[in-house]
Amino acid sequence: MAAATEKIKDLPSEQSEALPSGTTLLGDQFTIERPLSNGGFGITYLAQDNYLERSVVIKECYPEVFCRRDGNRVLVRSHSNHEKYRAIVEMFMREARSIAKMRHPNIVGVHRIFEDNETAYLVLDRIDGRDLLDIVKDKDQTLTPAQIKAALIKILDAVDLVHQNDLLHRDISPDNILLDKWGSPVLIDFGAAREEASRETRALSAVLVVKDGYSPQEFYFAGGKQSACSDLYALGATFYHLITGSAPPNSQTRMSEFASNNADPCEPLAGRFDEYEPEFLAAIDKAMRILPKDRLQSAREWSAIITTETARPVPTPAPMKPANNENLEKTLTRLVSETNEYVRNSQPREGKIKSSEPVVNPSRVSAPKWVEEFNAETTTVRSPKPARVDRKSTETSKPRRPKPIPEIVPEPIQSPSKIRAFISGRIFRRGLN
Ligand SMILES: Nc1ncnc2c1ncn2[C@@H]1O[C@H](COP(=O)(O)OP(=O)(O)OP(=O)(O)O)[C@@H](O)[C@H]1O
Ligand SMILES: [Mg+2]
Repeated sequence: MAAATEKIKDLPSEQSEALPSGTTLLGDQFTIERPLSNGGFGITYLAQDNYLERSVVIKECYPEVFCRRDGNRVLVRSHSNHEKYRAIVEMFMREARSIAKMRHPNIVGVHRIFEDNETAYLVLDRIDGRDLLDIVKDKDQTLTPAQIKAALIKILDAVDLVHQNDLLHRDISPDNILLDKWGSPVLIDFGAAREEASRETRALSAVLVVKDGYSPQEFYFAGGKQSACSDLYALGATFYHLITGSAPPNSQTRMSEFASNNADPCEPLAGRFDEYEPEFLAAIDKAMRILPKDRLQSAREWSAIITTETARPVPTPAPMKPANNENLEKTLTRLVSETNEYVRNSQPREGKIKSSEPVVNPSRVSAPKWVEEFNAETTTVRSPKPARVDRKSTETSKPRRPKPIPEIVPEPIQSPSKIRAFISGRIFRRGLN
């Protein structure tokens, strides 16, 4: 089966069904600059928001098995698929709305969604950075253990929010986590429409969406129960790749070996990498257990293990940036001069106060503007742990009330023949380039 995710630049142009550069969407609101990739269910473009004059990323719902391009329009390949195609478009919009609700610094921000060309579009904040797959392949850019740990802690917080919203990502992998220019990880590419495509479509009823090395074994057979720990398996596999330099073995193979009582082909991390705390490595191994019931069950549970004092990366005090020093100095100079003026003005000047004028208690004089500014500025500079602030608004996030984690039904151990039977269905493999 051909790898589904292909970088557009590697495709001959006649094979690419992407909209050409310069195409406008939603009237003249957005202009396509160039396609980034075609994942089989959607085409991702770099685009320009002409009104806000900023760069964005647009995902077009394009389940290529059912549709074809006619000009800019997306048409169903056959009339019999019309309803299913519409269901996928609606699912895409629904998932987009769900992602939009999750405001988190480590989840890509949704800018807007709209319908055009008889399909749906999702406009995302453009993350200035590289995906983890690019980084891990690049021998000139290695991530330190401290960076890897910090990234995992942040992504776990993001994944926890996804699960608290009763959603699953379903496609966590190194190419779906971007590291922005500040080195902070951002989760992208939620499984919009994929679930619908594999569940609802008769033509594809046996097609399952998997990414070898990252997808847990329950993704390989129809009816496999997907739960929070399925995402955690994929997250574990992603960090396994970052630490070892290669993706772990396919979970389907692991499952077959397990069922045949053979050794697990996936070598655990624990005990192999001295630069990481044993608890940190053991937690990844546990997230990647073959049977769902043996895995870590929630992102919070995982996070609690690795953020204990022993497992936490040694914090390095951030050096004060020169720009901050300059700002602080300027602010202090201004405050001193404003204070002097305030004091000068509030002192009674000889001969100028008439005895009949009421004496003003200086403490009741309303504080000048600088007091507020000073408080605001010094609080920002000194605050050791700023409240989490949404990227799109300045409102502080409301504390999230923990929701019960859906109960995990342990998978029965499958016999090798049963597994082979399950696997004999068609599997839609999403390769990594
Ligand atoms: N918000 C973004 N900012 C910057 N680059 C992005 C963004 N979203 C996607 N990309 C880039 O485009 C690539 C493909 O995007 P994405 O992962 O969303 O789609 P896909 O995997 O091709 O498709 P599918 O939705 O079918 O899985 C990413 O690996 C990343 O390099
Ligand atoms: Mg992707």
